Amino acid sequence: MGVTMTADDVMEQFIPYAERIVVTGCHGLLGQKLHELLSSTNDIIGIDLSADSFLTGNSYKYISLDITRRSEVVDAILENQPGIIINTAAITGVDRCEDERELCWRVNVHAVENLIRAAAKVDAHLIQISSDYVFDGNDPPYRETDLPRPLGFYGKSKLAAENAMRGSDIQETIVRTQLLYGVAPMIRSNFVDFIRTKLECDEDLQIVDDQIGNPTLADDLARGIARIIQLRKRGIYHISGSESISRYDFAREIARTFDEDPNRISAMKTNDLDQKALRPQNSTFCLDKIAGELRFKPFDVKNGLNEYRKQLTHLKAAIGGKSL
Ligand SMILES: NC(=O)c1ccc[n+]([C@@H]2O[C@H](COP(=O)([O-])OP(=O)(O)OC[C@H]3O[C@@H](n4cnc5c(N)ncnc54)[C@H](OP(=O)(O)O)[C@@H]3O)[C@@H](O)[C@H]2O)c1
Repeated sequence: MGVTMTADDVMEQFIPYAERIVVTGCHGLLGQKLHELLSSTNDIIGIDLSADSFLTGNSYKYISLDITRRSEVVDAILENQPGIIINTAAITGVDRCEDERELCWRVNVHAVENLIRAAAKVDAHLIQISSDYVFDGNDPPYRETDLPRPLGFYGKSKLAAENAMRGSDIQETIVRTQLLYGVAPMIRSNFVDFIRTKLECDEDLQIVDDQIGNPTLADDLARGIARIIQLRKRGIYHISGSESISRYDFAREIARTFDEDPNRISAMKTNDLDQKALRPQNSTFCLDKIAGELRFKPFDVKNGLNEYRKQLTHLKAAIGGKSL
């Protein structure tokens, strides 16, 4: 007897198949999630800075490469002939970018220009990951068509990379995301890791209640990118968690998820923090485009955090209960 599938069932299975995909920054949070999602049905070529890779897979290949090195990037792409390049590599510390402007520009802008040049040589589709920090945060919710106005150097570098993409002749997609969190081995700490660890150490916390946005489970972002590949979408897409929330309320929800007392977290204002970079106050995304064109609905805050907790339990069990 045949099985009747709805359109939604079919869309649920929209994972690319038999593509040759380069993932730069493959050891980072998003890079690992893309590898996890795509490597069983596609050839993945991971690129990152470390000498060796801890990722595995039948048709997985690792290249140790600094993507700021133009001729080596072009050579690697020419040799491997990918159909798709996903650039997740970046200097992501927004305060660090204020202090180390030259490095930030080299990695966040010049390296993207290198990838554009390389993609053009093999006619690859380049997917560049960008940020809510291209907006000033004064006029949310932000649609893909809204005018960017970055406040800090990180946002300026991400916008310059977007402009390089849009000014090129290659097949290109820009995916803006925000406040990424998730579970993976050997990554730098994200907001959820930070709050969870503080609570585990019995520390009380003050968190800003005047920075608002959509926390994004990295697995969701990877799934959204998979749909973009499968549906061959070009242009700009906003992909984030489905719910907008202040950092303070998000931190309290993290406490609840881990059975801690949310009242251990109190509210403070951004002005009382000594942060180097200016941040958008409210960078909430409008997600109508991904709902309509990709038929994609990411997790809300509660379900995203429950998924994070489940994955953390699995990872801890896999590494013998050591704390992360
Ligand atoms: N995290 C967020 O909240 C957030 C929000 C909005 C947008 N985004 C964007 O989303 C993307 C992915 O973020 P993520 O959190 O997954 O980043 P991540 O965890 O920091 O991963 C980035 C990876 O790229 C590597 N890398 C850095 N410079 C490189 C270079 N020159 N050549 C090759 N590899 C290099 C890093 O290596 P090292 O660790 O050794 O430096 C790291 O493994 C980034 O483009 C970021 O700007 C992130």
